[in-house]
Amino acid sequence: TKVAVLASGGGTNLQALIDAAAAPDFPAEICLVLTNSPGAYCLERARQAGIPGRVIDHRDYPDRESFEREIDLVLREYGTEIICLAGFLRILTSSFVSLWLDRMLNIHPSLLPHFKGLHTHRRALEAGHDTHGCSVHLVRPELDDGPLIVQAEVPVLPDDTEDSLGQRVLTREHVIYPLALSLLASGRIDVAGDETRIDGAPG
Ligand code: GRF
Repeated sequence: TKVAVLASGGGTNLQALIDAAAAPDFPAEICLVLTNSPGAYCLERARQAGIPGRVIDHRDYPDRESFEREIDLVLREYGTEIICLAGFLRILTSSFVSLWLDRMLNIHPSLLPHFKGLHTHRRALEAGHDTHGCSVHLVRPELDDGPLIVQAEVPVLPDDTEDSLGQRVLTREHVIYPLALSLLASGRIDVAGDETRIDGAPG
């Protein structure tokens, strides 16, 4: 299964996906890394892994529709079957989302439905939660919303800072994103409305 990763930044989740996909029995290959941000380090990671990298700079397009048309064109050029959003900082329109319905994953650094949007670690600390974590979900038009595939939970420790908590969560992101992708790519996710069922999982 051919997977394109869309990223805007450093791309540690991209790296986790690249590393996982290097295993011979992994059910997906990364065919493309696409970024909206010309200097982003994710491009360097793609280059080092021998994966095509493409920049589509949103500032070169008059509106979201034309920006996304170009993204869609390039995705198809590389035979993309599944999209992984990995720190991609542009909001996607619902028409783009419907083109890739149930074939687009996102990773979010919170236990959804808690803390959609930005600054999730700070908000988890401020809310006094004693657990926090990360989620991989299928993308729906609403921000950080959609059927959950995998979540990982971490403890919030008494002397945690935004950084220390964020690091603990990020380590788990790198585990659950490849796992969620392998489930989707191997056809083991059944989607019914807002719910997913993993074939072979109890219940
Ligand atoms: C991660 O925290 C991810 O959960 C969020 O954006 C960040 C991307 O980090 N969606 P990286 O570029 O993968 O290191």
